[in-house]
Amino acid sequence: MTIIQTSRLTLRSVTRDDAPDFARLCNDKTIARHTARIPHPYSLEDAAAFTKHLEEAALTGTEFAFAICLGEIMIGCCGADKNAENTAEIGYWVGADHRGIGVASEAARAITQFALQRLGVKTVTAGYFIDNPASGRVLEKIGFIKTGETAPLFSLGRGEEAAAVRMVLDQSSFTPGEFSLIDENDS
Ligand SMILES: CC(C)(COP(=O)(O)OP(=O)(O)OC[C@H]1O[C@@H](n2cnc3c(N)ncnc32)[C@H](O)[C@@H]1OP(=O)(O)O)[C@@H](O)C(=O)NCCC(=O)NCCS
Repeated sequence: MTIIQTSRLTLRSVTRDDAPDFARLCNDKTIARHTARIPHPYSLEDAAAFTKHLEEAALTGTEFAFAICLGEIMIGCCGADKNAENTAEIGYWVGADHRGIGVASEAARAITQFALQRLGVKTVTAGYFIDNPASGRVLEKIGFIKTGETAPLFSLGRGEEAAAVRMVLDQSSFTPGEFSLIDENDS
């Protein structure tokens, strides 16, 4: 279990116990449309399979997903996947009741710092669908820049491909925020 504390948020490793919260928060067309692998509607069975996958992936050291929590309450999710080319890809979503107050920006900054610091990568990548400019703004504020590439990406929630803008951050252009890794063990 890894726990990251930022100024307002606690980010902690996703486990299969989070399935009911995933089902509650992710049964949301907006999240489905703006992510690649979240179907809509989203059932408890979908959530159980996905959280089990995330728990197992963390053990292999390739994919790290964090529940974004305000106090004890899960309000979103963010994660980083380590890629072969010594880069990591980040992603995030925030539940409908907690958007527009800087949660994604704070969590995305923290997961980027986690990738740079803990995964040892020098470059972090991300992408957003072209009809989701708020996510582009989140990334831009952290220091990501457009690669110039816009490529079609399949979204389960849309049931089709849509144009996605690719972004990249070099560690030299990252400004860290409040960040402490307050617990980490493999138990
Ligand atoms: C996109 C999403 C992550 C944003 O989360 P959030 O917590 O509301 O984001 P924040 O409050 O940290 O920041 C949003 C920024 O986008 C800006 N913004 C909002 N709507 C915008 C728009 N239509 N065009 C441009 N910028 C916009 C906000 O003003 C804010 O920037 P600011 O801090 O400079 O004012 C959230 O809406 C979400 O989870 N959507 C569904 C899933 C998703 O899109 N995930 C990202 C996949 S790449």
